[in-house]
Order: sequence, then C-alpha cells, then structure tokens
Amino acid sequence: MDSRNGDGDSDQVADRVFLETTRRFAPPRLAQTDVALALQLAQVSPGKPVADLGCGYGRHLRALVEQGHPHPIGIDRSPLLLTEARAHAPGARLVKADLRALPFHAGSLAAAFCFYSSMFLGSDADALAALRECTRTLRPGAALVLTTDNPLRLSQSPQYHFEQDVEGLGRVVEDSRFDGTVDRVTKSLVTPGGKRLSATFCIRYYAPAALSELARDAGLVCRSAPLTETSPQLVALLEKP
Ligand SMILES: C[S@@+](CC[C@H](N)C(=O)[O-])C[C@H]1O[C@@H](n2cnc3c(N)ncnc32)[C@H](O)[C@@H]1O
Repeated sequence: MDSRNGDGDSDQVADRVFLETTRRFAPPRLAQTDVALALQLAQVSPGKPVADLGCGYGRHLRALVEQGHPHPIGIDRSPLLLTEARAHAPGARLVKADLRALPFHAGSLAAAFCFYSSMFLGSDADALAALRECTRTLRPGAALVLTTDNPLRLSQSPQYHFEQDVEGLGRVVEDSRFDGTVDRVTKSLVTPGGKRLSATFCIRYYAPAALSELARDAGLVCRSAPLTETSPQLVALLEKP
C-alpha cells in the first residue's frame, strides 16, 4: 500500500526508523492534544467502541485510555509497532490488520480515528478503499476524525533537510520533497554502533476540496476545519450519514 515493497526485512527497517525517530522527536503532549480535539469532534461517549486506524506504536491509544476510553482498538499491519503499542498503551486491544479490510462488523464502531496520514501511505485507490471500510464499519451518524500534515504549508516549502546527532539514538538525517500530491521522505539513522538504517515513506496529501471529493466517493460527508498555510495540521471530520 505504500513505499513498502513487501520485502519483510526492509518493511521492518522502515517500521524501526519510524518508531525510533517519532518516539524521540514527537512530544507525548502532542498525542494528548490530538486526541482531545478528535474526541471533541467525534462526540463519542466513554466506553463506546472506538478504533485508531494505523495506530503505530500506540501514542494516541495511550492518550485515548487516559482520556476516558479504557479499551480503544488499535489496528496496524506492523508486528513491531503493535508489540510496542502493547507495552505503551495497556488496556488497548491491538489487532494486526490492513486498513483496506477492517476486521469489524458493519456498523459496529462509534468513532474511528486516523492520525498523521496512516491511510494515505499508498495510492488513491488504497485511500478510497480504507475510507470505504470506515463507511462500512461506522454506525450511522458516527464519524472518522482524520489528521494529516498541512498540504498548503508543504506546498510553500516543498523541500526539507534535517540532520542531528541524538544522544543514545545516533545520527538522524531526513530529506523530503513534496510534488504537490506526494511527499517523499527519506529518513536515515546511523546508530552509535555504526549500523545504518534507512527508509523512504511516500505520503499522499489531499487539500480540503480533494479530501471532500474522496470522502464523498467513499460515502462519507467531510467537514474540515478551515485551513491556511499557517495551520499546524489538517483536521477533518468525516461523517457517515
Ligand atoms: C505515519 S505512521 C502513523 C502512526 C500513528 N498514527 C502515529 O501518529 O503515531 C502510519 C502507520 O500506519 C500503518 N499503516 C499504513 N498503511 C496501513 C495499512 N494499509 N494497513 C494497516 N496499517 C497501515 C503503518 O504501519 C504505520 O504504523
């Protein structure tokens, strides 16, 4: 579905690079804020079945637990990240599955969340398939809250380079180039022992109008918060009528 080439070894390297760099650079408070906003938008009562689609190592699952949802369901395809999520968010139910074929009954979810583009790491067809699965599995009137980086801001500065020596982790180098649709991000990590891990992630972006169209094709009604070039991220509420 994305830059993964189906080769288990390189998929594992990509998962490891994502885990080590995100865990080190993303402040835990950010996941707390993301979840507070998502819960406010989704209007879902505690205890109802909610799912984090593409949960990674569980930073948002942990915040969901802390904010009144003791057993959120986390879906991811990465065994490594699910193992980390199990330790990071005790209480969460973790399931290895593909976002294009969710392991839920029709109409069973009270809300779904997808933080930081998890369903947009592949083609348009993959994104549509994942959204259609949300339409199938959400209850009528329930919603998916989805966040991505801000595509308008990326368009303003389409190239990015970053490097830093991080204590205990190694040298982190990131280069990205946004072509207006896909941001191609290569991250490398050279460990203190001299081992080099490198992975490329291709993240597809939808500006609000394109996202509304995609959502409509999937049977959802999209309301995204107004977006300007300075908005920190795109946040959208996609409701099942
Ligand atoms: C950019 S990471 C974001 C993870 C998490 N939402 C966060 O913000 O920390 C994308 C995640 O989605 C998962 N993912 C991507 N495509 C998927 C698919 N088709 N099925 C299941 N998981 C997928 C990846 O394994 C990865 O954990």
